[in-house]
Amino acid sequence: MTIRKPVKYYVGVKQILITGGAGFIGSNLINKLIEDPNLRITCLDNFDPFYNSKVKKENIKPFLKNPNFNFIQADIRNFPKLKSKLTKKFDIIIHLAAKVGIGSSLVDPKIYTEVNIGGTQNLLELAKQLKCKQFIFASSSSVYGVNPNVPWREDDRVLMPINPYGFTKISGELLGQVYSKLYNLQFIGLRFFSVYGPKQRPDLVIHKFTKLISKGKPITIYGEGKTKRDYTFIDDVVSGIVATLDYSSSQYEIINLGNNEPVELLKLVQMLEKVLGKKAKVFKLPEQLGDPPITFADISKAQRILNYQPRTSLLDGLQKYISWFKGQNEKSK
Ligand SMILES: NC(=O)c1ccc[n+]([C@@H]2O[C@H](COP(=O)([O-])OP(=O)(O)OC[C@H]3O[C@@H](n4cnc5c(N)ncnc54)[C@H](O)[C@@H]3O)[C@@H](O)[C@H]2O)c1
Repeated sequence: MTIRKPVKYYVGVKQILITGGAGFIGSNLINKLIEDPNLRITCLDNFDPFYNSKVKKENIKPFLKNPNFNFIQADIRNFPKLKSKLTKKFDIIIHLAAKVGIGSSLVDPKIYTEVNIGGTQNLLELAKQLKCKQFIFASSSSVYGVNPNVPWREDDRVLMPINPYGFTKISGELLGQVYSKLYNLQFIGLRFFSVYGPKQRPDLVIHKFTKLISKGKPITIYGEGKTKRDYTFIDDVVSGIVATLDYSSSQYEIINLGNNEPVELLKLVQMLEKVLGKKAKVFKLPEQLGDPPITFADISKAQRILNYQPRTSLLDGLQKYISWFKGQNEKSK
């Protein structure tokens, strides 16, 4: 396979808008991009209460004193406010803001539609009005749902979402296709796969289990613990997003950013036990509605067009995550 080296297509100072930048992936991405003196970063977030907003405020605190960073608190559902606050000529929009969490999307599906579809359309409208060149959209492995053809390829059009969250992400990708065709906007949808690492969201399994196991509290496993996830380390995902900034060969692409190595839940628990040096107390409940049996990314397209290569094994990533987690606990003492 030939791996094409991407060409840096932005030269000079670029204005980037990052929505959802106070969250887990967003703040890790900003941490990387802020090193580039040619970028001016505007982060927009509403500190959604899905998890503690204090965590999100802490995430962006180190950036606030950087003159190349600007923060705007706003809700992506409020188009008039977006229009009045976002008047710069943004070259690139990285749209990460979303209602996240699969389980909660079954409880209140309407708000997922409002934020993830309505909010995405607002950002695309803004991109059109500001004549933005590139729009990068955070999509998800959830679009594939229960498609049995693993590993999942982007050109397999059989999308079988089994939760409202996945449905909203497919809609975002399709909205992007329309705007890209009509308004000469480059749209890249990146399908993320179970991202983990420092600052990980507290609702996600690695964060949840690490906290409980280290406190000696029981963890809940749904079903027999046989579900498999393609856990992808945050630094690898960030490198994929950064590589996308340089991609200019086509106007619309959907790209998997996964690890290409699904791991069973029980195996993950064993690895956490090993790294934490503690035995987990496992409590089993029936399988959860909306939970697919496997996620598994074919990453050959990302390798080919972005030169993407996940470099962090799950064991190394868990070690990095847990040393960050322990550091946080020390700080809060
Ligand atoms: N973490 C993963 O494993 C994963 C996997 C697939 C896709 N994704 C997608 O990646 C993106 C980032 O996910 P994350 O894990 O960093 O989640 P996160 O919750 O940490 O970050 C999302 C951010 O969006 C903000 N937000 C939510 N609703 C908003 C609104 N109405 N207006 C403005 N801001 C709003 C939140 O306050 C939060 O800071 C999301 O689009 C998510 O769907 C994440």
